[in-house]
Amino acid sequence: MNELSVNHLLGIKYIQPEDIELIFKTADHFKEVINRPIKKVPSLRDITIANLFFENSTRTKLSFELAEKRLSADVVNFSAAQSSVKKGETLIDTVNNILSMKVDMVVMRHPNPGAGVFLSKHIGASIINAGDGAHEHPTQALLDSYSIREKLGEVAGKNVVIVGDILHSRVALSNIFALQKQGANVKICGPKTLIPKHIEKLGVSVETNLRKALEWADVANMLRIQNERLDISYFPSTREYTQQYGVTKKLLNSLDKDIVIMHPGPINRGVEITSDVADSDQAIILNQVENGVAIRMAVIYLLASKIKQL
Ligand code: CP
Repeated sequence: MNELSVNHLLGIKYIQPEDIELIFKTADHFKEVINRPIKKVPSLRDITIANLFFENSTRTKLSFELAEKRLSADVVNFSAAQSSVKKGETLIDTVNNILSMKVDMVVMRHPNPGAGVFLSKHIGASIINAGDGAHEHPTQALLDSYSIREKLGEVAGKNVVIVGDILHSRVALSNIFALQKQGANVKICGPKTLIPKHIEKLGVSVETNLRKALEWADVANMLRIQNERLDISYFPSTREYTQQYGVTKKLLNSLDKDIVIMHPGPINRGVEITSDVADSDQAIILNQVENGVAIRMAVIYLLASKIKQL
């Protein structure tokens, strides 16, 4: 397979295991490129990309922008907070106005689940979902799996536990789909109130005891408590959450093996993981961020190759 099966990257749910393999193979090449003294290739000199961010972001926004610039694409950035969205302009009007300036590809983060899928039915440009509410964050899941593959050699057969606020997490859902498509075993761990009902139907197991989950795991992906999405109290207090679900160095040292610690960021230091864990050799959090640029270069390059054929 030398091209993606899709014209947009809206979610991991919509892509095939072969797409993931192709993205990883392409990212291997771009990872080598971004470690050269001259970190840029001319591949996308004729492509213009708009980054539309309707919600805050540090890692994803900068990573996409760097990926686009490393590929020599022309880049425009849109932030809803400083735009005419504040005057009541709709999503479709906003995007159609941007596209009429001859934009080929849209990278969009939006607070509403399904915003990218909705947009894909109304516009002609290729769309990459950079996170839509509590639905999917496909490039995060790809960079997470790529980082596991880099650290442990392969993803197939590995035991991966996703810990924390699963209910509000787009990272969790995209990771479940991505890991399963590559043959990993996935467990969910957290307080019952933060685990969606019937999640077992996705083929994951559920564990509410953190120690037991870590004893099973090769990798623990620690999710942030998304305070901005918590409309009610899902646990008695942050202190109590940390006592039951926070990973400390003492807890890791008490296991009979070294497991890999991941976190998509931003970290609530001292809540889901302590600083000595976040900054330890077991954590690959900054490797994830580094790999994000290569993964996003690969996704953009592969989708742009399809646009160029049209
Ligand atoms: N991991 C992630 O999506 O981080 P940002 O919200 O900073 O983009």
